[in-house]
Amino acid sequence: MRYRFLGNSGLQVSEICFGVMTFTGKTGWTYLGIQEQKDADRLTSIATDNGVNFFDTADVYSTGISETILGKALGKKRKDVVIATKGEGRMGTGLNDEGHSRQHLIRACNDSLKRLNTDYIDLYQVHAFDFMTPLEEMMMTLDQLVKDGKVRYIGISNFFAWQIMKLMSISEKQNIQKIISLQAYYSLVGRDLEYETIPVCLDQRIGIIVWSPLHGGILSGKYRKGKKWPKGTRLKGEGQHFPYDVEKGEKILLVVDKISKQRNVAMSQIALNYALQKPGITSVIIGARNEKQLLENIRTRSWKLTDVEMKRLDEVSEPPRIYPHWYFDVFKKKRMERYFSILAKQEVKDGA
Ligand SMILES: NC(=O)c1ccc[n+]([C@@H]2O[C@H](COP(=O)([O-])OP(=O)(O)OC[C@H]3O[C@@H](n4cnc5c(N)ncnc54)[C@H](OP(=O)(O)O)[C@@H]3O)[C@@H](O)[C@H]2O)c1
Repeated sequence: MRYRFLGNSGLQVSEICFGVMTFTGKTGWTYLGIQEQKDADRLTSIATDNGVNFFDTADVYSTGISETILGKALGKKRKDVVIATKGEGRMGTGLNDEGHSRQHLIRACNDSLKRLNTDYIDLYQVHAFDFMTPLEEMMMTLDQLVKDGKVRYIGISNFFAWQIMKLMSISEKQNIQKIISLQAYYSLVGRDLEYETIPVCLDQRIGIIVWSPLHGGILSGKYRKGKKWPKGTRLKGEGQHFPYDVEKGEKILLVVDKISKQRNVAMSQIALNYALQKPGITSVIIGARNEKQLLENIRTRSWKLTDVEMKRLDEVSEPPRIYPHWYFDVFKKKRMERYFSILAKQEVKDGA
């Protein structure tokens, strides 16, 4: 396993983060599969035995069940790992049971600490932008959680790029903690993050942690155009997951399939390696229904894609050149490319 420093911090995390959204009870988010305590104990041990030191959960995952199961599964190993969890989502029926208000975030964090059975959370992330609460209130609350010793580092998830810049400016002005990470969706079939977010994170030295790098399993290659979708998996039919262009996706899958056959590796490893080899990406959060998937995904980093393979994947998955990108393609391509190659060099620092 390889490790990297997370954003502009001294915290080292494994390139593979184990996402435990699948840790659930019979009453939780069972469409993902059912991983109760016994399964979670085994999967967590496999992860730590293979060098994974980074775990991601959230209060809303099966309304707290995922956090409780993770806390128990880690047990004594807790001090050796980095626990990332999230607050913001709705956790009750009350008016203030969601969002970034001081009222809700402090309670959400306290509840997560109890469920995880820990004195501190290594990385506390707000789960998504809250359109109603001033960003100053959110940042001052997160800063207070660090001062109170409840949280070591702060991060965000699912924000627009311009909001990230606002957060950085608030931290400068108020002389308070800065966010060190952004958790965001990014994959070979969804590279939207490259337009604005990756440049902003590189510029501001914010580490990017990728969620759903297999696009819910599509990049494992088991859902193909014109073929029957498998049973017993989380996706039940086309259009069930986040936006997916089947025509373009199939072209990408053909290239992924070809490389996987040439190299004799799983298609999922190609998708995970692709994300990890892109500038600005610190870690990918893998999801796994079972032991086989978990090990297959963890072993991703036992090899690397060559520059030629990266180029083939880049070309087939190129997102549309939306404005102002096409403007600079036409009028200032060389300057822009030079600038982005300089930015990319500020890439995440390797760890131990
Ligand atoms: N911040 C956010 O808003 C947000 C949102 C979503 C997720 N997350 C985080 O990201 C983590 C990962 O998300 P995700 O589970 O959606 O990731 P994903 O990598 O897109 O999908 C994982 C799913 O793909 C299938 N799969 C995984 N490895 C496979 C393999 N080697 N071969 C075949 N199928 C495979 C499994 O489902 P099946 O067996 O059912 O096919 C697995 O549950 C979550 O646990 C959570 O921590 C965060």
